[in-house]
Amino acid sequence: MNNKTDENIVWHKQTVEKEDRVRLLSQKPSILWFTGLSASGKSTIANAVEAELFRMQRKTYLLDGDNVRHGLNKDLGFSEMNRVENIRRVGEVSKLFVDAGLIVLTAFISPFKSDRQIASSLVKYDEFIEIFIDTPISICEQRDPKGLYKKAREGGLKNFTGIDSPYEEPENPQIHIRTDKHSIQECVDIIINYLIKFGYIEGNLEYAI
Ligand code: ADX
Repeated sequence: MNNKTDENIVWHKQTVEKEDRVRLLSQKPSILWFTGLSASGKSTIANAVEAELFRMQRKTYLLDGDNVRHGLNKDLGFSEMNRVENIRRVGEVSKLFVDAGLIVLTAFISPFKSDRQIASSLVKYDEFIEIFIDTPISICEQRDPKGLYKKAREGGLKNFTGIDSPYEEPENPQIHIRTDKHSIQECVDIIINYLIKFGYIEGNLEYAI
């Protein structure tokens, strides 16, 4: 988009605003940004957290890497440039959902620190919760649910994260989960507990582990 077009596009103020939606939904909208290697457990844990939030009658939406790549991002591959664009779009969509008042869960490898940083800067500082799903690559490779690590090791898949494409670990995630130390249910409890403790949702700290 060039500057000329920018000048000709004016933000239209809408009658129903974010605060109105937040009041209606009685929850603090936010992005739970799951990051980690392929097969680390991001989708599984994000899915289980969403199910628990749904049970608690919270309004959520889960954006999952593989699923979003079937639609919105189906034109993107796994080059560095394409991954940057993948995460940029996910960040923008998440921002819209936060504006809608939802608790958004995103499950993308999102391997680059700078892209996660850009996504976090799109919303208020406390609306972005980075969750590092920390699973040793040896375990991810053992699981290999889609056979992709094997393919990458054999040279049949290029730019595979952790093999011939980098994964930059978060330095200061709000939540750091070592999946080799916890069951899925414990991982869910840690996250729900965080949301209650910091006032994103109401509830008792019965989830504390
Ligand atoms: S990201 O790096 O751009 O954030 P994203 O989370 O959307 O990745 O997609 C990752 C999923 O795509 C993996 O779980 C895996 O199933 C599949 N995939 C296919 N090719 C690759 C690749 N080269 N690197 C990583 N994941 C890949």
